[in-house]
Amino acid sequence: MTAGVELRDVHKEFPGGTRAVDGVSLSVEAGAVFGVVGHSGAGKSTLLRLVNGLEEPTSGSVLVDGQDLATLGERRLRPIRRDIGMIFQQFNLFRSRTVLGNVLYPLRLAGMNRAAARSRAEETLDFVGLSGHGGRYPEQLSGGQRQRVGIARALATRPKVLLCDEATSALDPQTTGEVLALLRRVNRELGVTIVLITHEMEVVRTLCDRVAVMEDGRVVENGEVYEVFARPGHPTTSAFVRSALHSEPDAALLERLGARHPGRLVNVPIVDGAPALDGLSALLREHAVDFTLVHGGVGEVRGRPLGSVTLELRGSAAAVDAVAHGLGAQARSKAGAR
Ligand SMILES: Nc1ncnc2c1ncn2[C@@H]1O[C@H](COP(=O)(O)OP(=O)(O)OP(=O)(O)O)[C@@H](O)[C@H]1O
Ligand SMILES: [Mg+2]
Repeated sequence: MTAGVELRDVHKEFPGGTRAVDGVSLSVEAGAVFGVVGHSGAGKSTLLRLVNGLEEPTSGSVLVDGQDLATLGERRLRPIRRDIGMIFQQFNLFRSRTVLGNVLYPLRLAGMNRAAARSRAEETLDFVGLSGHGGRYPEQLSGGQRQRVGIARALATRPKVLLCDEATSALDPQTTGEVLALLRRVNRELGVTIVLITHEMEVVRTLCDRVAVMEDGRVVENGEVYEVFARPGHPTTSAFVRSALHSEPDAALLERLGARHPGRLVNVPIVDGAPALDGLSALLREHAVDFTLVHGGVGEVRGRPLGSVTLELRGSAAAVDAVAHGLGAQARSKAGAR
């Protein structure tokens, strides 16, 4: 059992006139992992709070599992809220309760009897890898363990949707990896639909099926993760993608490379399905152009190659033009810039 989430032309305006969410339409398929990225203030947290009913839209509708939250009375909203778990950057655990007590809390709130709640809580702690830690207090745990408690507490009532607000932003890279692996299990083994917001493209690359990019309350890009990484259509998206791929030289590096390499520097994107470097040796031979590989890297996004390499090309201007054109390269040195 799993549920999807849909937003239809959702607006959220706060008193004072801030349009935190400004006409967002999104569809998250049941069982998917959907990422939302954006800079600080883009409206990401507000968007999540609209999905779990903590905020009401100024206009537009939010549907969870096909039901429009605005049309439900408090009595029918309650079970839907229980279908939606949420985790946070700062974990938001009860410091005065033990780990077990934290996980029991939503179960007792939902009216589950003591024995059933206890067995459910222990089962859930086991799932997140914290069996045996139930008697500890949050401050006796590492950040990664605390987030596991947060996940266990969110999952205790067996929600169909899990909302994650910067859930790994307070963690170091290795712990982030462990928590992301746990979230993947939550999705695959429990079938929970995940909507996660982050400013780290690496999180999107690791976990998400689809991603939306938000800016000033609007969605400026929305697509399948590989497509968005390979062919970002909006400058904000390009900047986020560059932060995760590290293979395209930035301006400062380009200047240093230019000082060392007097030939023409060109950047060749490596994208699945594009010819890229396949024809390189033939092109070089045909035009009598020599090259040095000066920078770059090819990695993997969702099992498909993605990256870029920067080449220094040496030969007559016309020959270098022809090779660069043949590679579909973007000219990066001053000599090559228009
Ligand atoms: N309760 C509120 N009252 C008034 N303005 C708010 C409220 N909550 C958020 N805002 C404003 O709405 C805009 C979007 O805020 P939001 O918290 O959704 O951004 P965000 O993308 O989550 O940012 P961050 O990455 O910093 O968490 C901001 O300008 C913020 O100041
Ligand atoms: Mg936020």
